[in-house]
Amino acid sequence: MALYTNESKDRVRDAVDFVELVSARTELRRAGPARFEGLCPFHDERTPSFGIDPGQKVYHCFGCQASGDVFTFVQETEGVDFKGALELLAERYGVELQREQEDPREAERRKQRERLLELLSRTATYYERYLWDSSEAARAREYLAGRGLGEQMLREFRVGYAPSAWDRVLLASRRGGFSVAELYATGLAQRSKQNGQPYDRFRSRIMFPLTDIRGRVLGFGARAMGEEQRPKYLNTSDNDVYHKGLHLYGADLARAHAAKAGAVILCEGYTDAIALHQAGMRNAVGLMGTALTGDQVGELSRMAQTVLLALDADSAGQEAMLRASSLAAKRNLELRVVPLPPGADPADLIQREGPEAMTAIVERSVPFVRFRVERVLAGGDDSSPEGQDRMIDELRPVFAQVGPGAMRMELARMVSSRLAVPESVLEQRLATSGGSARAGSTGQPRANGRRQRQAGGERAGNGAARRSGALLHGREDTERAFLALCIAAPDDGEQALASLDIDEYFSSDLLRRAAKHLHAGDLRAPMTASPQDTGAPEDDAELKALLAELVVEGGRESVARPAKLEAQRLQLELARIDRQIQRARGEQSGAISALAGRRAQVKREFDRAYGRVLEETGDREG
Ligand code: UTP
Ligand code: MN
Repeated sequence: MALYTNESKDRVRDAVDFVELVSARTELRRAGPARFEGLCPFHDERTPSFGIDPGQKVYHCFGCQASGDVFTFVQETEGVDFKGALELLAERYGVELQREQEDPREAERRKQRERLLELLSRTATYYERYLWDSSEAARAREYLAGRGLGEQMLREFRVGYAPSAWDRVLLASRRGGFSVAELYATGLAQRSKQNGQPYDRFRSRIMFPLTDIRGRVLGFGARAMGEEQRPKYLNTSDNDVYHKGLHLYGADLARAHAAKAGAVILCEGYTDAIALHQAGMRNAVGLMGTALTGDQVGELSRMAQTVLLALDADSAGQEAMLRASSLAAKRNLELRVVPLPPGADPADLIQREGPEAMTAIVERSVPFVRFRVERVLAGGDDSSPEGQDRMIDELRPVFAQVGPGAMRMELARMVSSRLAVPESVLEQRLATSGGSARAGSTGQPRANGRRQRQAGGERAGNGAARRSGALLHGREDTERAFLALCIAAPDDGEQALASLDIDEYFSSDLLRRAAKHLHAGDLRAPMTASPQDTGAPEDDAELKALLAELVVEGGRESVARPAKLEAQRLQLELARIDRQIQRARGEQSGAISALAGRRAQVKREFDRAYGRVLEETGDREG
């Protein structure tokens, strides 16, 4: 069940100034009564193929196929999920969100969770204050300053200090009305094995609050002050609030910067993330003491299309990078490696050599595949034929990930000059035995937008082809164009939709859903839920994206042209008769001649309508 009422969602959508919202990301100019255009904020381009309908509040890019409404726009540009986008917009446009009636057990669980979050948040504040105000923390303040971490950035990350006493958090929390059970549940206290009494888990440590993408404290990473104190970092263990491997350190602070830069820097440690932010690389996040997980890769992919790996060149770091690469392949993420000198982490490097040095290294990042090729070349022995064979064996799986193109050519050139074998011979040796040339493109930066939409089902045509506005194109495109025209000319569109059997006329399930939605709902407000929808448009992302595309496409028709709509409808009719004829053939039935007659008649109608389309076009252009 949805968390907030549909009515709340509608109120938020109504309150949004879509032109203003989008203008923060790309410059828009008016291109028609219901249309603004600009350079697409989701992919690189020089001529605008991105359009919005300010009234319907939807966008579509004919270049990269990005589509959606106010909510998906914020999801994509701010790196948040639907709920996050809704809350963000509600806040920005001053709308109060109403919750759905919850099942009482669910409500109870949520209240309990909110209490635990409250306890964690006030404890973070307590540690923070203790770091800056207590004399006990003087050594910690010196230590942090000595590492070059400034007060302003430490405050942004809410870094704190846990006192050495056994019960400060315990007592303060009890006084604040929290139970021992709640202290256990958050991992702030634990039970003594000796006497069964609770005591503070974190003592005499620098406290790094671990937050979710919205900045809510879920747990802590706690750094020891001296060598004798073990472990070096004590982290909150998995519990009901904090789940290891689900989050990235500093993601809340990095989110908007990463979305804007189109890239996120991934480093290993808490201090690395803070130092990178302080050095001006505000799109940096840290790993939080775990091996990289699929969830974290998912979060990275929501933040930006490119991930810059600033991980240790040691074997654990390498492992993490390989993991990242196999996880990234599924998500269209572009992975690049920041060439850190061996043994250096970003925090140390920034302190030793300054922020500019770090920026320069980040700018020298190389595509992940290239990094792997360079490593094989650097580590291999090419002096003997056996050594060369081994290097080629190591390179084979790497090259198997690189589809044909400039990157492959460049890498092949690199290897062939190093091993002194002609490129043609190299390609042969890379292709033989074992590693079949899998046509992946993991290492290839994609020219297209960050999310290749799949909503069109088996549709193959690219944006440019569909932009031609030609009447005679593939079946799905005809159906799509028909629906766009229905929206462009709602009066005729309503009639046209009512006149045909949707299940018969439309080829894919998605297009049928869209047609039924438009037929049952309001062609003048296509994004609004209609009684026919199987779910709210919010829950049907495919439908939502397609509708947005149709609205924006419809908006290109500067004049609603009834003849074009009629021609499109007749074309659908022709396609339907063709299918019937096909079926009749298989069944050897005698219906074919009747169908053929009907087809000829529809074809004549179509030709007439098409003639009128050409006249209308001529009128408009003449
Ligand atoms: P490092 O040992 O490289 O520490 O661990 P660091 O980040 O450079 O810490 P500083 O700079 O000495 O303060 C990298 C990360 O691995 C996790 C922490 O998240 C740490 O930031 N880690 C490390 C743990 O969770 N537990 C440990 O005992 C050590
Ligand atoms: Mn370090």
